[in-house]
Amino acid sequence: MPEQVTHFKDGEIVVAGGAGFVGAHLVRSLLKDGARVTVIDNFHTGTRASLSAQNRLQVIDHDVATPLDLPGPVSHVFNLACPASPAHYQADPISTWRTSVYGADHLAQFATDKGARLVQASTSEVYGDPLETPQRESYRGNTSTIGPRACYDEGKRAAESLLMDFHRVHGTQVRIARIFNTYGPGMAKNDGRVVSNFVVQALTGAPLTLFGDGSQTRSFCYVSDMVAGLKALASADNIDGEVINLGNPNEITVAELAALLGTLLEDGVEICHEPLPLDDPRRRRPDIGKAQRLLNWSPKVSLQEGLLHTIDDFRARLG
Ligand SMILES: NC(=O)c1ccc[n+]([C@@H]2O[C@H](COP(=O)([O-])OP(=O)(O)OC[C@H]3O[C@@H](n4cnc5c(N)ncnc54)[C@H](O)[C@@H]3O)[C@@H](O)[C@H]2O)c1
Repeated sequence: MPEQVTHFKDGEIVVAGGAGFVGAHLVRSLLKDGARVTVIDNFHTGTRASLSAQNRLQVIDHDVATPLDLPGPVSHVFNLACPASPAHYQADPISTWRTSVYGADHLAQFATDKGARLVQASTSEVYGDPLETPQRESYRGNTSTIGPRACYDEGKRAAESLLMDFHRVHGTQVRIARIFNTYGPGMAKNDGRVVSNFVVQALTGAPLTLFGDGSQTRSFCYVSDMVAGLKALASADNIDGEVINLGNPNEITVAELAALLGTLLEDGVEICHEPLPLDDPRRRRPDIGKAQRLLNWSPKVSLQEGLLHTIDDFRARLG
């Protein structure tokens, strides 16, 4: 198997969405490698506070739904700009679709002009409510084009199509990551996704909100593993035009996640039930064979360990 090589030292890297949850972790890691990083963000869900000032970092307030023009060389572009939590992406669905599709268009044009590699943060949501498990990259998905999640799911699918056309027509160095549920320290308190919801509720003594009967499954990837995967995708040679799942194949039900948190917090937790949202996927489990083969990447952090770090972080921030 090829060794994982990361050559970001002295790279000139643009991270769109770099003030968000995954983006801020990625930016810190790239800066640590010695890269110069330009963050492009409109602070829709991200915050300036997530990035501490340093001289190899510049932060630009910019909406990716409009064209991007920056002077100087660029080696890599990471496109993470898009609200990822259903609560946030459904609050302004038209803007979500524009961010996803127009954002991919403008960043692809920018990466093409600069001769840079472009890593696109796509999502397991392109598989919709899957009829196949685990989900392989070849699976074409079961999505709704018209439901409340479509602004995100279909926006990300359209972005993938457009980027593959840029690759075929212009030779753009596109690499697409289909990211499965990622969690960890630094998630916004109001993020609205299940791990942060459960941890905030448990730490504030509120019952954990379980949608449906809790038998729907998810596979949770710790954020440092995701960052390593995104960097491996950016640095591997001869993989332009590849679409690769990044996620942790350890699948559990949401009810089991609630029970695990109860055990980790030692006090136990109370549960309250709410109806399952429309089009909520019932299964999520990545097949990561392609990531293992092409990137020599697999996740390393167990759910238990990752949750303990996440709990510590929220505990400190919630006081
Ligand atoms: N975290 C996950 O579990 C997960 C799963 C699948 C895919 N992804 C993808 O990874 C990326 C990052 O996810 P995240 O969890 O960090 O989300 P996040 O909401 O924390 O971060 C998104 C960032 O993009 C910025 N942004 C939003 N719209 C923008 C616009 N029009 N112009 C410029 N910046 C804009 C936000 O302000 C924020 O800083 C997203 O593209 C998301 O779709 C994440």
